[in-house]
Amino acid sequence: MNWWRGSEHTTFKIGGPAKFFIEPKDSAELRLILAYARKYKVPLFVIGAGSNILISDKGVGGIVLRLRSPYFRKLIFNGEHLEAGSGVMLSQLLNATQKQGLSGLEFLAGIPGTVAGALIMNAGIPGETIGDLVEEVWVMDYNGNIKLLKKQVLKFGYRTSNLSKYIILNAHLRLVKKAKLAIKNKIAEYLNYRRMNQDISKPSAGCIFKNPKGTQAGRLIDLCGLKGKRIGGACISKRHGNFILNQDKATAGDVLKLMDLIIKRVKRKFNITLEPEIKIWG
Ligand code: EPU
Repeated sequence: MNWWRGSEHTTFKIGGPAKFFIEPKDSAELRLILAYARKYKVPLFVIGAGSNILISDKGVGGIVLRLRSPYFRKLIFNGEHLEAGSGVMLSQLLNATQKQGLSGLEFLAGIPGTVAGALIMNAGIPGETIGDLVEEVWVMDYNGNIKLLKKQVLKFGYRTSNLSKYIILNAHLRLVKKAKLAIKNKIAEYLNYRRMNQDISKPSAGCIFKNPKGTQAGRLIDLCGLKGKRIGGACISKRHGNFILNQDKATAGDVLKLMDLIIKRVKRKFNITLEPEIKIWG
């Protein structure tokens, strides 16, 4: 099956096709695909919701793997404990936890990602990240072995974790009981903050750069006077400096040129080197 392409299946709506696209049914099928990829030396790229990624214009020269079958999307509640499959969308996770009266994940509201994507990137907002709630994670290594990683061996940093060398199967999270209405209101608050401060008017990949220590990439880009700057079909948001929008049929090349310009200008003005937050494939 070869119908996955960046221009259709990422939130940026940019990029060429995957050479192969596979959705395994369960962990046994996943293991078979890994064995095939190893044997024939085909690069593997695991995609989540396609929300933090820029696919090159020529596409992805390997297998794009997506864990979206029901096996990878289970949600199992047990008191204040939750087991969440890697392919569960964060919006679905929030819906379910709110209905159960379980609090802790509200800050994820509005992030268009999957559980696995959020764990690998340690998604969050300043002061709160998903890593803080994780008790253990079941993963498969690239040799097909299933492993349980306990809290003590997990390392979460600012937009990083030590999970990227594995394929995440599911995560066990510890939440706390709270009134459903309070959870609902908190979610609405976070969604409203995003609506007011971020730019969802056109396709994007969310924040493009990581925040440097002690400051914000968006603020620095803003202070360089770059908001609204356009190259080809890509444009720096007028609302938030750290958002690049696919204004009109942008190519990955347009975005990369704009990122390069931002890095140079911020370096020149502040002597700070911005680091991309998004993944770039192909
Ligand atoms: N600011 C400006 N000009 C701009 C944009 C922002 O001056 O054009 C200022 C704001 O006024 C504010 C500060 O910069 O004082 C921070 O802005 P904001 O609250 O929008 O937060 P951020 O640091 O830009 C971070 C995360 C977001 C997350 C928000 C939630 C990073 C790179 N970004 O953004 O995450 O949603 O906090 O508060 O850590 C993402 O990871 O993709 C992402 C969007």
